[in-house]
Amino acid sequence: MELATLLTFLLLAIGHGEGCQLQSSTSETVKDWWQTAQFYQIYPRSFKDSDGDGIGDLNGITSKLEYLKDLGITAAWLSPIFTSPMVDFGYDISDFFDIQPEYGTLDDFRALIKRAKELDLKIILDFVPNHSSNESSWFVKSVNREKGYEDYYVWHDGKVNATTGAREPPTNWLQYFRGSAWQWNKERQQYYLHQFAVQQPDLNYRNPLVVDQMKRVLRYWLNEGVSGFRCDALPPLFEVLPDAEGQWPDEVVTGATEDADDRAYLTTTYIENQPETIDMVYQWRTVLDDHKRIHGGNSSVLLIETYSPAWFSMQFYGNRSTEGAHLPFNFNLITVMEQKGLNASNVQEAVDLWLKNMPAGRTANWVLGNHDKRRAASRYGKEHIDAMNMLVMVLPGASVTYQGEEIGMTDGEISWEDTVDPWGCNSNADIYEQYTRDPERTPFQWTAGTNAGFTNGSTTWLPLATDYETINVEKELSDDRSHLKIYKALVALRKSSKTLQNGSTKYEAITGDIFVVQRSLANSATIVGVINFGSVAVTVDLSQFDKNRTESLQLLIRSIDSTKVEGTRYDPKTLSLDPAEALVLTTE
Ligand code: NOJ
Ligand code: MG
Repeated sequence: MELATLLTFLLLAIGHGEGCQLQSSTSETVKDWWQTAQFYQIYPRSFKDSDGDGIGDLNGITSKLEYLKDLGITAAWLSPIFTSPMVDFGYDISDFFDIQPEYGTLDDFRALIKRAKELDLKIILDFVPNHSSNESSWFVKSVNREKGYEDYYVWHDGKVNATTGAREPPTNWLQYFRGSAWQWNKERQQYYLHQFAVQQPDLNYRNPLVVDQMKRVLRYWLNEGVSGFRCDALPPLFEVLPDAEGQWPDEVVTGATEDADDRAYLTTTYIENQPETIDMVYQWRTVLDDHKRIHGGNSSVLLIETYSPAWFSMQFYGNRSTEGAHLPFNFNLITVMEQKGLNASNVQEAVDLWLKNMPAGRTANWVLGNHDKRRAASRYGKEHIDAMNMLVMVLPGASVTYQGEEIGMTDGEISWEDTVDPWGCNSNADIYEQYTRDPERTPFQWTAGTNAGFTNGSTTWLPLATDYETINVEKELSDDRSHLKIYKALVALRKSSKTLQNGSTKYEAITGDIFVVQRSLANSATIVGVINFGSVAVTVDLSQFDKNRTESLQLLIRSIDSTKVEGTRYDPKTLSLDPAEALVLTTE
């Protein structure tokens, strides 16, 4: 064995034996803006209402851009703001080139972009490629088989039942929002596919006209000055090709649930995660890169919504010869905890699942929540909100915050009568809480005043969460200690620390409760984040993370109930941690 090979072998063997996860060391490199960005998701309907109708709007967002600037946010992504009948609150778009009137006008949008540019904030829009609204003129034309639109959607005659002679849907495929994914259309006398609600017909990506049209959508908004797109619902973009007779296969029963309307009742082998979907994202990347080449300016980015397994999600990044999405969203901190509960070992599993599968040279990202998942403070437990915000800020790559996570907002309680989310509405009063996404969409809590300062009007489109008098921006800005102030300190640290931006990463659940992240970079201070996810106090030995053997670590940031003192130095060999205590320390 050659000496170099032997050395590599030995190093690998040592690294393996250690039990810690060591990312290959990165020296300081110039990174593009999105690689270390703090992304912030705005759910426009619930962020800030400017005109008193109880519905958030664009002018409301514009009026709060300074708040985002003050948080230290790099880029805000807006859930859909386009013309929509609002069956799925904007994810059912009837005009991809215009603004929903209750949110404002194109001029309001331009004013928002202008103000964002003045503040050096980037705005990212939601691109919803899988489907349109059934009220889109494209769908109406397709129903009427108008020239050029005949195959804009996925149409099928269905099957005739051999015994009864009755017409039946082409397959047993299920939609996400419960029930069949096929809807009979009387006018056209065919079924159409809808992987989401009946009012969200799936566009047909096997039609080049559709592919071109959706690229026009991307170019249109790039020309309006946006810095990229969050791409909605990628896994169901393509279905498998039908057989020679034009028939599709049925999915098989999974055994995961008894509820035959629940999407989990059947596999999604034929209706999700097709290779053509990956290629489509590569094509969109070309659209973005071409735009930059022609018009100059900063890179614009693609963030991909995918809950698919790693073998599929990681392909979105691109391959050796092709660039893909900048950041396929990493939802592991949501999904692994949903399945297994929050503790240090499960956090390690979630982090491993991304970092160990991510192709070399790509950028990681960490998402705690969004408008489809229970709010982080409710899901992880209120006592862990600082810890979780800390985690996404000390791990390498980009972080993604859903509006309200910075103040520790919790879910609202929405009765069956007040339920408006289609996923909830498609169930019933007994089971809707399993499905509805209304609780995480309640209005943002700005103040302790009327309607939490969200609107000057007398109503809000969804009831407020009841804790707004104690959890709101105004109070948290004036309190000495608050989740908001901790969040701001974390962002500020990330923005000023070369180590957090470029350093190598070591992380480990040193016990079932204690999770440690170490970031280090030559000639810079090492940063150590430590979290006690358990409910008992413990004393830990962090010597192995005290890289420079300083034998004392200085406290930079602490979770809200921590009684330690910032600026004080602590002995890493005997560091005591209270239940739910989370700390960021440095060797400096
Ligand atoms: C994912 C979005 O986040 C969700 O809110 C929406 O209902 C579906 N995609 C359909 O567009
Ligand atoms: Mg309004």
